Amino acid sequence: MANHEDIFKKVISHAKEYGYIFQSSEIYDGLSAVYDYGQNGAELKKNIREYWWQAMVQLNDNIVGIDAAIFMHPTTWKASGHVDAFNDPLIDNKDSKKRYRADVLVEDHVAKIEAKIDKEVNKAAKRFGDAFDKEQFMSTNPRVVGYQEKANGILKRLGKSLENEDLADVKALIEELEIADPLSGSKNWTDVKQFNLMFGTKLGSTAESALDLYLRPETAQGIFVNFLNVQKTGRMKIPFGIAQTGKAFRNEIVARQFIFRMREFEQMEMQYFIKPGTQKEWYEAWKEKRMKWHLSLGMGEANYRFHDHEKLAHYADAAADIEFKFPFGFKELEGIHSRTDFDLANHEKYSGKKLQYFDPEENKSYVPYVLETSIGLDRMFLAVFSNSLQEEELENNTTRTVLKLPAVLAPTKAAILPLLKRDGLPEVAQKLVDDLKWDFNVAYDEKDAVGRRYRRQDANGTPFCVTVDHQTLEDETVTIRHRDTMEQQRVNMSEVKGIIAKEVAMKEWLKRI
Ligand code: GAP
Repeated sequence: MANHEDIFKKVISHAKEYGYIFQSSEIYDGLSAVYDYGQNGAELKKNIREYWWQAMVQLNDNIVGIDAAIFMHPTTWKASGHVDAFNDPLIDNKDSKKRYRADVLVEDHVAKIEAKIDKEVNKAAKRFGDAFDKEQFMSTNPRVVGYQEKANGILKRLGKSLENEDLADVKALIEELEIADPLSGSKNWTDVKQFNLMFGTKLGSTAESALDLYLRPETAQGIFVNFLNVQKTGRMKIPFGIAQTGKAFRNEIVARQFIFRMREFEQMEMQYFIKPGTQKEWYEAWKEKRMKWHLSLGMGEANYRFHDHEKLAHYADAAADIEFKFPFGFKELEGIHSRTDFDLANHEKYSGKKLQYFDPEENKSYVPYVLETSIGLDRMFLAVFSNSLQEEELENNTTRTVLKLPAVLAPTKAAILPLLKRDGLPEVAQKLVDDLKWDFNVAYDEKDAVGRRYRRQDANGTPFCVTVDHQTLEDETVTIRHRDTMEQQRVNMSEVKGIIAKEVAMKEWLKRI
C-alpha cells in the first residue's frame, strides 16, 4: 500500500489535473499557501457551503444568516482580543533557517507516540482475532499504557506552558524531547517567540488620513457586532443563532499541507446566543449536532473523533475539535467553542453601546453567552476530496482511479455520452442534456471510446454516466452507469431525471442528520 505522503501527493496532483485546485498565480511560480479553485473545485466548494447553509439556516427556524464585510472597524480586533492574543509561538532552526510553530513540533512528536500505540493495537488485534477487546488492551498493556501516559504528560505540560505564556518552558520541552528539525535533523533552535497572525492593511487614499485596518482573521466578529441589529430587526428570541460564511485571513507561520492551512481561506461559522448558565448543555448539544452533519455525508464514522482542548483560546471556557482522518493523520476539521460573554461584553466596553438582550421570561436584561461552531470550508473540501479519491483493483487485473464524492456534493451529477459520434446519437444525447440541465449540472462527452469516457468521469467524481446507443433510437431507453458500483441499468429516458434526483437531492441527504 502507498504511504501517506504518496497518497497526499496523489490528492494534490489529482486536484490539479481535474480542475479542482490550482496554485494561485501559478504562471508567476505561485504564492505560498494561497490557492485558486478551478471549474470543478468552485462547484464542489459551493455545494459544501450550500449543504452547511441549508442545515444551519434553512432547517433551523431560530438561525438566520448574514454576510458581513471583511473590513471592520479596527477597534473590533482590540475588543475581540486578537490584537493582544492572536499569536502563535514560533521557533527558528538556526542551521536550516526554517521557521516552525513550536506547539506543532511538540504535537507532531506526540502524534508519533500515538502512531506507536496504533501499531501495538493493530498487532494485538491480528493476534487475538475476534476475541480482541481494544478497550481492555489499551488500559492494561504496559507498553501502551506507558506510551499513553507519556503522550498525555507532554500535552499537559505544553498546554500549561502556553496558557502561562511560559515560552522558555516550551523551548525546554522541545529540547528535552530531543525534537529535531523535520527537514534537516538539526536540534539547534532559537528561543520561542510570539507572532501575531493578523494581516494589516490601510483604508483611505492619503497617507495622513489612512486608517490602519486588519483583514478579518475570523468571520465571527462580523456576527458579534451585528448581534443587536439582527436580534431587533428579526425579533429573535434567545436561544437563537446567526450564521455566516466568508473569507478570513491569517499570516500562518507554517503553511504546509496544501489547502489544510492557508493564508486566505473561507470559514462557515455560527454563533448561538444563549442564556448565561446554559452553556454546558448547548456545548454538548452542538457537538452532537455537528457530528451528525458530518456523518450524514457517509464518509465513515471511524474517520472522525472529538478532541477536547487542553489549551483554551483567549475567549473560551470549553472547546473541542471535530478531527478528521486526513492523509497525514487525524487533524482539526471544525471547532466547537463555548465563548461565554467574552466577545459581546468586550464590544460593549470598547464601543460604549449596550449589547444586551431583554429576556421576557426572566424580566431582565443580560449579555448573552455564545456557543460557536466554526468550520473551515477549504479544510472540509480537503476532507471530502482526499477521502473520496480511491485507486480500485478491478477483476480484470486493471485499476481505476475513482473520486467517490458524496453524490450530493459532486460538481457534475451526470455525463451524457452518445456511444458513437454519428447515426443521430449525438443529437439525442444533446436533447437529454438540454432537458436535464434545468435540474442538475450535466456534461456532454463524445470523445474517445466509451470505456475511456467512463474512466474520465470516474476520476472527475461524476456519479452517473448516461449512454445513448442505437437501441435508444428504437425504444427510447438508455443505460445509466453508477460510478461507485459500475453497475449499469437500462431505463427509459423519461426515468433518468428521477433516478438522478433521488441520489443527489440535498433534501434526501439532509434528512439523515
Ligand atoms: N471563530 C473561531 C475560529 O476562527 P479556529 O479554530 O481558529 O476558530 C476555525 O478556526 C476553523 O477554521 C478551523 O477548525 C479550521 O477548519 C479553519 N481554519 C483555521 N485556520 C485555517 C487556515 N489557516 N487555513 C484553512 N482553514 C483554517
